[in-house]
Amino acid sequence: MQEQSDRPPVGGSRAVRLDAFGGPEVLDLREVPAPQAGSGQIRVRVTAAGLNPMDWIMTADADTAARFGLSLPAGFGTDYAGVVDQVGDGVSGFAPGDRVFGSALSRAVADFVVIDPAGSIAANEAYHTPDGVDDRTAATLAIAGRTASAALAVVDPGPDDTVLIGGAAGGVGVFAVQLARIAGARVIGTGSAASSDYLRDLGAEPVVYGDGLADRVRALAPGGVTAAVDLHGTETVHAARELGVPDGRICTIAAQVDGVPTANGANAALGALEEIARLVAEGRLRVPVAASFPVEQIRRAVELQAGRHVHGKVVIDL
Ligand SMILES: NC(=O)c1ccc[n+]([C@@H]2O[C@H](COP(=O)([O-])OP(=O)(O)OC[C@H]3O[C@@H](n4cnc5c(N)ncnc54)[C@H](OP(=O)(O)O)[C@@H]3O)[C@@H](O)[C@H]2O)c1
Repeated sequence: MQEQSDRPPVGGSRAVRLDAFGGPEVLDLREVPAPQAGSGQIRVRVTAAGLNPMDWIMTADADTAARFGLSLPAGFGTDYAGVVDQVGDGVSGFAPGDRVFGSALSRAVADFVVIDPAGSIAANEAYHTPDGVDDRTAATLAIAGRTASAALAVVDPGPDDTVLIGGAAGGVGVFAVQLARIAGARVIGTGSAASSDYLRDLGAEPVVYGDGLADRVRALAPGGVTAAVDLHGTETVHAARELGVPDGRICTIAAQVDGVPTANGANAALGALEEIARLVAEGRLRVPVAASFPVEQIRRAVELQAGRHVHGKVVIDL
């Protein structure tokens, strides 16, 4: 086993834990024994954890938790970034002191996570954090970045496209808007009236969601919309159909509509996450962090995100 010499003392560490499934009120910051890297594993001193709606959706009730393989007492949060501080026997490609980011299913909001670097997406994975990407930003990339990439892969936007993105101002939206723009497409993004300037800054032409969406999009793009991605519900799917977009060029990530393809972050192309991290490092893609909270304020952070009007990502500092 290799260890980082200036690591925090082994023994005491903090983790967000829950003894019952439910809302933010069940989340507690606890002193727990620091996990140790076994053979084939690395231990990461987590410095930042990015929140996603799936974190509080999967811990909200026992049935959903069971579908994700969670049992009590459970941890919380999935996307993390930090520094490797232990490397078990048989691990190659990682050394103490390496900056890493990735996913640790429902256990990322903790001082330490143990990762099997050969593991699977969302459950257990680590990638090297490129120079030029800070830890807060690295902690936002895995789920939202890969989901946006998977959704766009379904509709495959290019310079001849006008893409309608529903829920464009949220955590997945910020990646979807910018990736579609990088692919050369014109992007129209739905948001509340309060999100218009924010969407413009990202590179999207804003349109307000709600009744009459298709008419407002038609006024903005008389030449037509050629593809659509719905990141919020089904409204954008229905507007896109009304505007004549074929089902094969519509994708949803948060709801099901018969005949319309869905996308999931786990289906993103191999290398999609590394490509997103590279774009961030090159300054070609930016991730707005709407708010960051010290870990002691985990409940407040979840309440903010669960309000569903966050612009970009919410990050927990550890
Ligand atoms: N399938 C997958 O792999 C996968 C992965 C990640 C996420 N998801 C799901 O995808 C959804 C989006 O995730 P996220 O991380 O982007 O969520 P998020 O960050 O919580 O989204 C917040 C955004 O939703 C917008 N919004 C609120 N009400 C809206 C409405 N009626 N119509 C359109 N937009 C609305 C808000 O815009 P305003 O502030 O302007 O209202 C806000 O910017 C969630 O349901 C999540 O569970 C699925």
